[in-house]
Amino acid sequence: MTIEGKRVLLIVSGGIAAFKALELIRLLRGCGCGVTCVLTTAGAQFVTPLSLQALSECKVYTDLFSLTDESEMGHIQLSRSADLVVVAPASADILAKMAAGLAGDLASTLLLATDKPVLVAPAMNMRMWQHAATVANMALLAARGIHVVGPDEGAMACNEFGPGRLTEPPAILAAIEALLAPARPLAGRHALVTSGPTHELIDPVRYIANRSSGRQGHAIAASLAELGARVTLVSGPVSVPDPIGVTVKHVESAQQMLDACQAALPADVAVFAAAVADWHVARAASGKIKKLPGAAPPALELVANPDILATVAQSGPRRPRLVIGFAAETDDLMANAQAKRARKNADWIVANDVSPATGIMGGEENVVHLITQDGVEDWPRLAKQEVARRLAARIATVLR
Ligand code: C5P
Repeated sequence: MTIEGKRVLLIVSGGIAAFKALELIRLLRGCGCGVTCVLTTAGAQFVTPLSLQALSECKVYTDLFSLTDESEMGHIQLSRSADLVVVAPASADILAKMAAGLAGDLASTLLLATDKPVLVAPAMNMRMWQHAATVANMALLAARGIHVVGPDEGAMACNEFGPGRLTEPPAILAAIEALLAPARPLAGRHALVTSGPTHELIDPVRYIANRSSGRQGHAIAASLAELGARVTLVSGPVSVPDPIGVTVKHVESAQQMLDACQAALPADVAVFAAAVADWHVARAASGKIKKLPGAAPPALELVANPDILATVAQSGPRRPRLVIGFAAETDDLMANAQAKRARKNADWIVANDVSPATGIMGGEENVVHLITQDGVEDWPRLAKQEVARRLAARIATVLR
């Protein structure tokens, strides 16, 4: 797949790196990709509309309140006329405007109005990049699904050395290709993913559950779908939205989760990221249990839940080729995870330390160790989405 015939709306904001936008346009045009440029007032201090126009062979837009431009193409239509919006270079200012949802000029208005994916290539002084405001803005944008490439580390125009250099145009082109013509190594494969907690009823208003936001499992389902897999996500009650392009089965209890998993088989890969409750109440009350003054609290008789991972991993000919479990532990992480892999007949275990001090539970980031038949890989602290992307890429190397 190529990006020939696709169209990019390229927003060039202010910064010394703006001249590299010219090289990016040349590369995109060389691939047969159409480019429409938008230049901010600050960007125009570094490159001219004429040079962007000459290379893109297309009209350059600069003004939100231009009568001529609006009569040719309204700004809302302009924001949606391309397959992808790219901001390169993306200054601290435009990133802050995006994070805040400001729309005071043409570029920020287009970014707020677009319904297309957005890729930003930040470029700024390293102190600006590392400032808490920029760090918070980037986290917000990433959580909203904005794609980011770079910045690189190196010598800067201001004689400092560090992260903040605009990543080179070939790397920006590669990121654009990955978004517009993604590799789909899992096309034709079926992936089953569990996510979130299960709720085990005590009575109609009370339940037993494990803590789980569903962020990691949902991100894994989304990443597998991005690589072309058909994905069935069996999710317990969560507040995160259903991932796009995934079939979601909503369940409450462990028994319902098992039933939904078995109904979804056969699958080529199964990833069990759900935090399944270990027990359910033997006889859930059909009406709300009354809290009577002076009365002893009710005694709950608990019964073990089915182990969904172990059941699917031991399901004979219906066993997926690759079965992956999670081990969230607060103590003896690696020993417990290794034992779990053997006991449950999983191929891989993704082990993570969920002690309260790590902030992983419910947070945006995760530190995991991948245990396979070949040993243990220690992954660095990554956004949960990045853990998901890496895991999906590893799965693709096995299933391709
Ligand atoms: O035994 P433990 O709950 O620590 O095992 C964790 C792994 O097993 C996770 O992958 C989890 O999704 C899976 N599991 C399951 N069914 C259960 C309990 C855990 O699928 N009843």
